[in-house]
Amino acid sequence: MENMKSARKEDTGVVGRDLSEQIKAATKENHVRAENTQLMLSYQKGQITLPQYKVLLCSLYEIYKVLEEELDRNSTHPAVAPIYFPQELARLEALESDLEVFLGSDWRKRVIVPAATHRYQQRLRQIGEENPALLVAHAYTRYLGDLSGGQVLGKITQKSLGLSGKEGLSFFSFPGVSSPNRFKQLYRSRMNSIELKEEERREVLEEAVSAFELNIQVFDDLQKMLSVTMATADQSQSGFPAAPQISQFTM
Ligand code: HEM
Repeated sequence: MENMKSARKEDTGVVGRDLSEQIKAATKENHVRAENTQLMLSYQKGQITLPQYKVLLCSLYEIYKVLEEELDRNSTHPAVAPIYFPQELARLEALESDLEVFLGSDWRKRVIVPAATHRYQQRLRQIGEENPALLVAHAYTRYLGDLSGGQVLGKITQKSLGLSGKEGLSFFSFPGVSSPNRFKQLYRSRMNSIELKEEERREVLEEAVSAFELNIQVFDDLQKMLSVTMATADQSQSGFPAAPQISQFTM
């Protein structure tokens, strides 16, 4: 009988397994697609440029601002509380400090983001208000990514941009996490402790796929934004482009 039960589980794919395993399996293909966006490929080749990095930081700032606002606001929700780790994971202050390094003290006026980043923010706000259980999908996608590939990307950024110390690289550093691998294990076990009805679980898995897609759209938009601004800069021979060429993407 036991064997039949497990055979049936196999047949139905993800049913009966831990959320952490299901979410990883559900987003596997999306992860490959995210790694293969132009922006992430440039990254992996050690070819990230300063303009690319600046616009990436701007979008990450806008995304984490809303993600962390919604996590804070819903921190006692039963599906959020187990994975709420502001001390260990919060990225907003780190991003603010990196933006100050790269854009200067008036960085707030200089933050530019494409339409895809606004769509990502809208989705985060909407689920924060209407269905906070889905925040786990977004927190997983960003924070576990930052604790995984993100660690390598930090070193690559330093090298690609020719930075000598750690200045401007706070985003990649997690002073409250001594072992990223052990922390990821803890995070996964907390995810697995969340009680979800089958329908809610399916929604979380779908939301994680959307979260990856939103990230991919942001990367693609950033790449487009940069190719337009770079083409304009080439034509005008004026070096870095002025804001008006970029603003068409900010909406
Ligand atoms: C995990 C690499 C981009 C989200 C990982 C892991 C590596 C990696 C090596 C660890 C895999 C494991 O422990 O089995 C990369 C590289 C990237 C990249 C090289 C791009 C250059 C992204 C992006 C996202 C992301 C853009 C989402 C926005 C994740 C998540 C995990 C992960 C959520 C945790 C998977 C899990 O254990 O459940 N990544 N990644 N990654 N990555 Fe990425």
